Amino acid sequence: MKRENFQFTYDVYEGEGELPRADAVLLAAARRATGDAYAPYSNFLVGAAAMLANGQLITGSNQENASFPAGICAERVLLSAAAALYPRVNVITMAVSYNNLLGGSTSPISPCGICRQSLTEREANAKQPLRLILAGLSGKVYVIPSVSWLLPLAFNSSFLGK
Ligand code: THU
Repeated sequence: MKRENFQFTYDVYEGEGELPRADAVLLAAARRATGDAYAPYSNFLVGAAAMLANGQLITGSNQENASFPAGICAERVLLSAAAALYPRVNVITMAVSYNNLLGGSTSPISPCGICRQSLTEREANAKQPLRLILAGLSGKVYVIPSVSWLLPLAFNSSFLGK
């Protein structure tokens, strides 16, 4: 038997004031994008903003549905928007924030498993890291250098012989 170990390093900022300017701008856009969310069922408004390799900043938000599973998270709305508006342009950094109308928003958001899967495949195709900036409307900010680190032992195209 051999025991393997997985660990990763990420940056924890006390607030947006400590962030490099470009990251602070992206996080501000993600926080603003929470206002575009359609989340009447969960009251959990998520906003995301992406900086693309061509310098474009685009945003997305969660879009829910009365048929709950039809709802889409902000991160995947944004990945789809990026692919539609700027095909084949890499996402360099994505910032994600939220406004929980039923509670606080003072700790960093944690992307769901499906979004981690989608983000990880996008990163793999880009052959360059996709950085994540995770925050609430206030409080600590996490900067994760590569989204794949949030999904160890991920299922990927190699299993399908691709
Ligand atoms: N949600 C996101 O959009 N992103 C996340 O990272 C976590 C969850 C959405 C899905 C659903 O519309 C609502 O938040 C509550 O789960």
